[in-house]
Amino acid sequence: PELEKWVDEVPRPGVAEPTGTKEGQPHYEIEMGEFEQELHSDLPPTTVWGFDGQFPGPTIEAEQGEPIYVRWTNDLPDDHLLPVDTTVHGDTIPYDIDGVRTVTHLHGGNIESESDGKAKGWFTRDFQETGPAFEKKDYYYVNDQPPATLWYHDHAIGITRLNVYAGLAGFYLLRSERERELGLPDGEYEIPLVVQDRSFDEDGSLFYPSAVSEDRGGDESYPETSIVPEFYGDVPVVNGKAWPRLSVEPRTYRFRILNGSNCRYYDLELLEYDEASGETGDDGPSFVQVGNDGGLLAEPVGLDGRLEIGPGKRADLVVDFSDFAGETLLLHNDAPSMYRGRAGGEETKPLPEVMLVDVADSNDAEDDSRIPDELTEVPEIPTDAVDTHRHLVLTATSDEYGRMKHLLGTRDQPGGYSLEDPVTEEPELGTTEVWSIANNTGMSHPIHLHLVHFQVLGRQSVADYDSETDGVDPDALEPPEPYDLGWNDVVSVDPGEVVHVIVHFGEYEGLFNDQTGTYMWHCHMVEHEDYDMMRPYRVVPGDD
Ligand code: C2O
Ligand code: CU
Repeated sequence: PELEKWVDEVPRPGVAEPTGTKEGQPHYEIEMGEFEQELHSDLPPTTVWGFDGQFPGPTIEAEQGEPIYVRWTNDLPDDHLLPVDTTVHGDTIPYDIDGVRTVTHLHGGNIESESDGKAKGWFTRDFQETGPAFEKKDYYYVNDQPPATLWYHDHAIGITRLNVYAGLAGFYLLRSERERELGLPDGEYEIPLVVQDRSFDEDGSLFYPSAVSEDRGGDESYPETSIVPEFYGDVPVVNGKAWPRLSVEPRTYRFRILNGSNCRYYDLELLEYDEASGETGDDGPSFVQVGNDGGLLAEPVGLDGRLEIGPGKRADLVVDFSDFAGETLLLHNDAPSMYRGRAGGEETKPLPEVMLVDVADSNDAEDDSRIPDELTEVPEIPTDAVDTHRHLVLTATSDEYGRMKHLLGTRDQPGGYSLEDPVTEEPELGTTEVWSIANNTGMSHPIHLHLVHFQVLGRQSVADYDSETDGVDPDALEPPEPYDLGWNDVVSVDPGEVVHVIVHFGEYEGLFNDQTGTYMWHCHMVEHEDYDMMRPYRVVPGDD
């Protein structure tokens, strides 16, 4: 359907309330369910999945040092809303059981393995059926890590792409007194914005492709319902509204941006916009980045140009609209769908217009927010203290039907492993590792590690990189981009490039927490994560 743009106002996600206490801590019970929600005023209500009747789910407001328990419950219908491909991990997933498998992962959480929301820790309605990695109903989030923009989303093996697309995602904002004292814009001037792309049928239902044979000129060798290599929607949806507009005052705002799209990258900037002609004009206000995935940067960084944000990533931005009173701005996306980052790409299925911003003529109240020159301390992990250097590979192959299948490999097995292969990455608690991730495919991949936050040392071309030699000299690398600074849990690796990240497993300088056990690492394009760019890794106890 042709939807009129810029009709509906961007909603703010609701806030979750604890339902009781458990062992003296707040206990939340948050239910996944199916319901109808109006995503655009011209569309009939859309059947979506969400948490506590909301898409996106309600924001969990957490405080550093104050643990919480969450019981994620499943009240979804018997059948999936979207086309399921039973050939994806078909030999290990019981596709014939009743009910929809779900499991909620707290993305960016420094949390115990049993509460991580592993792909195989799924459960169906009322916990009737549970997956092999299911361990407990009440997840424990210790909230020891620095304040950060986290999010929660479904992670069920083989159908994560569908569950997330149906709507199973929400924000988890971890805060601290120290952060509040900085005086960054807060209250109604701090807005979480989850950017997603969707496609709709005329009746308002979510469209998700079920077969790719059309794309192959009618080749029918694919299974009837077939996973697609990537999904790109043609409609931007922000906080659950399609083509929305956001009203702001001419003052400073804090935006917690989350790319919650299945596969789409965004290169975002604000441009002056003439609504009557649909023409863009000069640059709007620039973004000042104050935080990344894992929390605040050491100091604010003015972004000269665009913000690159791949699937799964968060950017904590401050934007000053005071010079743009009375103007209309466009949140513009420059990224092509088949994203290749610095390697450049073709303009495939672009989605240049994301959201309109209406700046009011005057402020309702005085703006007393500040952007301090120093935000927090981000201790540098020294490269001379590295215990293990891992050389990892992003690669692709094709499956028995000739479908593209992306994989994660290592120096020893550059052709890649499948999810079922034994664990190959076993960091010891208390040690520091460098992970060098080389991309041998034709597109960018946003690579995510559960549990930890790493620091990006830099990038180089695969041609300049010797995977046989351990050790890395950061001075010889292309330095991290602003959106790579500080602590991250997703890093984008462009084709033909190797990205080096340094990570400490366990508590570091009083930050984070000691955890051992099995976690996942994977590409955050959820179609890739499902098939088959996901691997377990295991943190094992150290010597002492
Ligand atoms: Cu946000 Cu394992 O993912
Ligand atoms: Cu990928």
